[in-house]
Amino acid sequence: IKGPYDHFMQKEIYEQPETTENVMRGRVDASTNRVVLGGLENWLTELRRARRIIMVASQTSYNSCVAARPIYEELMEIPINVESASDFIDRDCCIFRNDVCIFVSQSGETADTIHALKYCINNGAVTIGVVNSSGSSISRLTDCGVYLNAGPEKGVASTKSYTSQYVALVMIALCLSEDSVSRIERRKEIIQALTLIPNQIKEVLELEPSIIKLCENELEKQETVFFFGRGFQFASALEGASKMKEISYVYSEGILTDDLKRGALSVVDNVLPIIVFATKDAILPKVVSSVEQIMARKGNLIIICNKGDKTWKQKKQPRNIVTLEVPQTVDCLQGLLNVIPLQLISYWLAVKKGIGVDFSRDPAM
Ligand code: BG6
Repeated sequence: IKGPYDHFMQKEIYEQPETTENVMRGRVDASTNRVVLGGLENWLTELRRARRIIMVASQTSYNSCVAARPIYEELMEIPINVESASDFIDRDCCIFRNDVCIFVSQSGETADTIHALKYCINNGAVTIGVVNSSGSSISRLTDCGVYLNAGPEKGVASTKSYTSQYVALVMIALCLSEDSVSRIERRKEIIQALTLIPNQIKEVLELEPSIIKLCENELEKQETVFFFGRGFQFASALEGASKMKEISYVYSEGILTDDLKRGALSVVDNVLPIIVFATKDAILPKVVSSVEQIMARKGNLIIICNKGDKTWKQKKQPRNIVTLEVPQTVDCLQGLLNVIPLQLISYWLAVKKGIGVDFSRDPAM
């Protein structure tokens, strides 16, 4: 079943050109610039009337919500909350009848997420499920939903589900904001860019040989790795850190790049690997300025940037900066490409350390 791959995780990473295509199939129409989601059709009036959207999920699924949040805020212009399911159920959150709650889960069976869903149903909210496993509890309990159609995910690390959840969430935002005249051009730009994503993921996967070298030369002996991202890339930092802990057993933190100045800078030295997302978007100049502060402390930098970006090679750095270059897409989709090197890094680090990649020693996983 694993075909030419050694592990399910590797196979699932390599399936992403196909799975991102599958989640869009029959839904994204690039000729009319429309997104049609059959699973939401009967609820569109209620959904478009929402005064607030709350996304609830656990771990990797939560990170996909963080990735999608900025584009919801931009396209829908209503408050958008993202909640970790366990924290959500620990509090008595105020949920109203005109709230729309989106539950995101690969398995559709995560206990905390189901618990939160039942709470929202009892409070009268309209509920959407974004689920991979058809017929699962979350898909049955929600009012409406979007299936990921990513096929079974056997490796313990969620990889292809993350990118499919991300695409599904963006598709929902595009569908719910269809009436907004002021957003027509932005929506077109995103829809056109979505159709290119599967092939761009293929391009990123070609980085694998450089990533193997990076793991051997820079990362294999390390006990800690930090990920820095901001704006659209904060979710990439969270997801990178999550994979590193879960699969490679390396202590890791995903940090808002701007929080560098609030403590993190004090631990920068010439050993600790710092992976920074510096792909092109409106806040890249701020990221560059943070990187310069890390360089001033001779930090061990690994930069994820766009192909052909000469910024880093031109820097007079005290030590070589390693770059991983990915193709460019529209800002709100860039995380779909940026996350692929992280998946490969955590996979190869685990393999090099002899860890059973498809399982986890964390009993809660
Ligand atoms: C954890 C898994 O148990 O559950 C994570 O190890 C996953 O990889 C999380 O992200 C949430 O799972 P689901 O099925 O709700 O997306």
